Amino acid sequence: MKSVKEQIDLNRLPKHIAVIMDGNGRWAKSKGASRIFGHQNGVKSVKETVEACAEIGVEYLTLYAFSTENWNRPAEEVQALMELLIKTIFDETPTLNKNNIRLLAIGDIKSLPAKCQEQLASAMKETSKNTRLSLVLALSYSSKWEIMNAIKQIAQDAKDGKLAPEQINEVIFENHLSTAGMPHPELMIRTSGEHRISNFLLWQLAYAEFYFTDVMWPDFRREDLYKAIISYQQRERRFGKTGEQVKQPN
Ligand code: FPP
Repeated sequence: MKSVKEQIDLNRLPKHIAVIMDGNGRWAKSKGASRIFGHQNGVKSVKETVEACAEIGVEYLTLYAFSTENWNRPAEEVQALMELLIKTIFDETPTLNKNNIRLLAIGDIKSLPAKCQEQLASAMKETSKNTRLSLVLALSYSSKWEIMNAIKQIAQDAKDGKLAPEQINEVIFENHLSTAGMPHPELMIRTSGEHRISNFLLWQLAYAEFYFTDVMWPDFRREDLYKAIISYQQRERRFGKTGEQVKQPN
């Protein structure tokens, strides 16, 4: 009997996996603990997922760590999340380097507390030459924010005469997104039984396969990641074509 890991076809891995890490608060509440305890325990799941992706050969992993909307949470929780981010990034940078993992960030990084921006900038610099896996943290991120930002930049370029409106195409638009240069995620995982996209990578997930699990993020382990990849590999990705066309592309 093959283990879950052995059931993965390493030749057909998604290049980019995106994850909505959900359920920290409910997980903690079910244990009679504070929401912050849930986030603290979510860090172990982050580490396992990053390690597992690097080990099997996934090239990009994007984690939705803090959304634009998360700023509306109680100030105490926001502060605790920022402190946890700073601490985790600081603690884990040597491990990222040891494992040849590059850290990137997408989102409105300038809106983060100065200490968080500094920690992030220093970790990104220190890991910038690494090539095995790119770990992308979505921080103060929302897709609508990102798309509005791209539109404003393109409109400015048009106004400045650098670009004619009829030249605007998908490539130009994508180059103004914070994910410019990255492949689109083929697989999006959301934990905790919620079936929503929550303003995450709306453009980039156009053809992604979605995988939902009832597992709460602090309980998410590498086997859960493997199961999501196996489910992805069992699906037929048609990109608008018929099943017959996909099987016989010529
Ligand atoms: C969603 O659960 C989780 C978050 C908003 C934060 C995720 C952050 C971490 C796992 C901490 C560290 C991360 C990194 C990348 C170092 P929720 O609070 O919305 O849970 P609920 O839906 O049960 O309330």
